[in-house]
Amino acid sequence: MEPKQRTVLVAPAWPYANGPRHIGHVAGFAVPADVLARFERMRGSRVLMASGTDEHGTPITYEADKKGIPPREFVDHNNALIVEDLRRLGMTYDIFTRTTTANHYKVTQDVFLKLHENGYLVKKTQMGAFDPVSGRTLPDRYIEGKCPICGFPDARGDQCDNCGNQLDPIDLINPHQRGSDAPVEFKDTEHFFFNLPAFRDDLTAWIHKHEESWRPNVVRYSLEYVANLKPRAITRDLDWGVPVPLPGWAENPHKRIYVWFDAVIGYLSASIEWAAQRGDPDSWKAWWEAPETPDTIHYYVMGKDNITFHSVMWPAILMGASAKEKPLHRPDYIVASEYLNTAGKKLSTSRGRVIYVRDFLERYDPDALRYYLIIAGPESQDTDFTWPEFVRRNNDELVATWGNLVHRTLVNAHRNFGAVPKPGPLTGDDQFRLGETEDAIEHVGHLLSQARFQVALRYAMTMAARANAYLSTEQPWHTIKTDRARAGTVLYVALRCVDNLKTMLTPFLPFSSQRLHEMLGYTDVIAPQPVVREFTDIDGTAHQVLTGDYPVENRWLPSKLEPGRPLPPPQALFKRLDDVPNEDEEALASS
Ligand code: MF3
Ligand code: ZN
Repeated sequence: MEPKQRTVLVAPAWPYANGPRHIGHVAGFAVPADVLARFERMRGSRVLMASGTDEHGTPITYEADKKGIPPREFVDHNNALIVEDLRRLGMTYDIFTRTTTANHYKVTQDVFLKLHENGYLVKKTQMGAFDPVSGRTLPDRYIEGKCPICGFPDARGDQCDNCGNQLDPIDLINPHQRGSDAPVEFKDTEHFFFNLPAFRDDLTAWIHKHEESWRPNVVRYSLEYVANLKPRAITRDLDWGVPVPLPGWAENPHKRIYVWFDAVIGYLSASIEWAAQRGDPDSWKAWWEAPETPDTIHYYVMGKDNITFHSVMWPAILMGASAKEKPLHRPDYIVASEYLNTAGKKLSTSRGRVIYVRDFLERYDPDALRYYLIIAGPESQDTDFTWPEFVRRNNDELVATWGNLVHRTLVNAHRNFGAVPKPGPLTGDDQFRLGETEDAIEHVGHLLSQARFQVALRYAMTMAARANAYLSTEQPWHTIKTDRARAGTVLYVALRCVDNLKTMLTPFLPFSSQRLHEMLGYTDVIAPQPVVREFTDIDGTAHQVLTGDYPVENRWLPSKLEPGRPLPPPQALFKRLDDVPNEDEEALASS
């Protein structure tokens, strides 16, 4: 019997609108999320992939100030760049919106007020950091010093890039202003604190419940964090962000809601925006008010520095803001990658050494990048990106294994039969090859539903290698001269294997898989691509979103390629790359 249709939220972390994306970013939040969304749609799940640009907070004001432009202008510009990066990568968001929409402001303020009403917000006076010369508040990110936890010398005031812990600037050893020796003055300022300790027991039990299914890094960071949970300030002395929706605060231009508080609420506000836009305003509830059973799964996909915001703060907000009878659905999977490094250094904009997605895609195909980021990416440990390794993976694996299998099979079938040949009786070897490849669809699917992308892709590639070995043994290009019927049978088996492998590889390699789908004589779409459209906000203004129609249900099934189906002339799927010269490496890794 068919299991009940799953309802799946894919929630990729919201990239800061502070510049175009580099390959380290998209290795974390983007490509794995799209693999999940595509796979779930193919198996027939009802999928909502919702996110957008994270446009508030000091990461934005800092960079905008540096450029001497207003934050609004800065985020408009960067939102457009990021949308373009994600579109070219084939990221099938149902909605990729922005945190500066009126809808997002409203939903954030509603959640804030719910928490306030439910008694989870406490007003307190705390130490704030200020520039003693100008008297301006110094947001956390403008402050650097030594990490009090791991001793890393260049920790930021909000978080340590080395150990991933969230920090308070006042705890830094030798705090100073970012990029200079200028001192930092700490003085009193009033803020709202979110009473996280009220959720300690619930959170601890909830994290333990997921110990088996979450990656070890996620469990470790989360348990460490809940073990010494403190109330957390969720307002800031800042003039850029969502206003605090309370009398005396709303009109104060210097008080705003903390960026991480508004950003995580984005998953909910984007779902609400999506539902309104498609003319079915309550449809977001199918995801958010669904009980926490295996029928409804929420996957959050991110880099490791985002973990505790999703495993502690966001579920606490959801619990605290829920109506008793309708609890909001908490994350089921928190899928966090480690870091992608170039030459051993974290690929981060703030530290130089960057390879931008758009530069990469000027030279190479998106599938080559997607392939590399999964097969050699930082799924479970920090990894180095190197050009020789990229070229090797492309040439030895994509081209020589998968591309070669496709090419040999299609060229021989097309040249000798012009169509899918009609098979004669299958030998034991034929049956075994076909059977193993068919079973692999389910196996790969099982791994993907657990967010184990790398093993899933490796397994599919092993199946491609075995199909190649089968062809090399059977040599239909020789057999055709003496036994046309047998050659036809072998090519039929190989075509079915290729068709099955296409299914497994579509979530990873959507562009080439769609081309292959057509080379197999199909005329429909197996790997739809996103588009940019205009959505109307609740205040009547318009903004661009990345969205799409992705109707691909019930594709995660063994091939039924019928004999006799005409085959168009095949074309190469992938490009073999020459060794990337050193100047190229320099050009792409600009600081
Ligand atoms: N902008 C953050 C980053 O790039 C991620 C925000 S994820 C969200 O690290 F959940 F808060 F939206
Ligand atoms: Zn540290």
